[in-house]
Amino acid sequence: MNLEGEEDVAEQSGRLVCSCGESFEIQEGVPNLVFPRSQAFTLEDADSYDELIEWMGRLLNEDAGAARSRAVDLLEVGPGARLLEVACGPGPNFPHLLKAIGAEGELHAFDISPDMLRVAREKLPSGATNVELSLANGLNLPYADESFDALLHIGTLNRFDDTRRALAEMARVVKMGGKVVAGDEGIAPWHAVTEYGLVLDKFGALFRGQPPLVAVPPTAREVRLQWLFGDAYYLIDFRVGRSVRTLNLDVALPGRNETVRDVLEKKARTP
Ligand SMILES: C[S@@+](CC[C@H](N)C(=O)[O-])C[C@H]1O[C@@H](n2cnc3c(N)ncnc32)[C@H](O)[C@@H]1O
Repeated sequence: MNLEGEEDVAEQSGRLVCSCGESFEIQEGVPNLVFPRSQAFTLEDADSYDELIEWMGRLLNEDAGAARSRAVDLLEVGPGARLLEVACGPGPNFPHLLKAIGAEGELHAFDISPDMLRVAREKLPSGATNVELSLANGLNLPYADESFDALLHIGTLNRFDDTRRALAEMARVVKMGGKVVAGDEGIAPWHAVTEYGLVLDKFGALFRGQPPLVAVPPTAREVRLQWLFGDAYYLIDFRVGRSVRTLNLDVALPGRNETVRDVLEKKARTP
């Protein structure tokens, strides 16, 4: 994409023009890459978001910072890595991500809410020149395939209209072998009938999310699931693969003189 206008000014408030003919407005240095342009989303309040999470930590007797740090460890990245955070909100994961990648790394982060990005930007450490913020939709990531070493997403997985597509998009933009770490609220099933679980259930849909394992891309490798932050948040992590698993249909069935393929073909011929 090309910047339209005088470079210094355009980087703050110009337009990015794509060779496909689309153009995207830049406001205060943040390009609006949301696609499709008009959609309804549930948005939290950006100014009180940190207080809400702090309150949740007190309710759960847990430390949100420690949980975020564990999630970032799962990315398995070191200094110099190029990371993407999907739906970054007001940036509570930035300190952990920036610590992991160091000054030589690159952090790209986006959210669909301009308000969230405003707060995220205000909180960035002064002199952080390795952070790129954009407005974008988690269902249409405005990045080329294999652009990042790893990707973090926390907090919208329960609400994407199409979870399979959201996870497929995340896997698409990460290099093969890189990690995708994605999670959201959801009380661990073994608390369902305890007082702990029953009280959390009274918060309505908030803690009722279940890990969408069926939506993990079939090309994923080393898929793992864990709960953290008082067992009230699930976290799925996997390594990006590019091929689906295959079966050896030519293996002979035990004790029989025919292969799995023979049996399948016979069944297919049977009316
Ligand atoms: C619960 S907050 C999570 C913020 C942060 N990731 C965290 O770890 O606390 C969810 C965020 O997802 C954003 N969001 C909701 N739908 C989105 C979408 N389709 N694409 C991008 N961001 C979205 C909201 O604006 C909000 O900032």
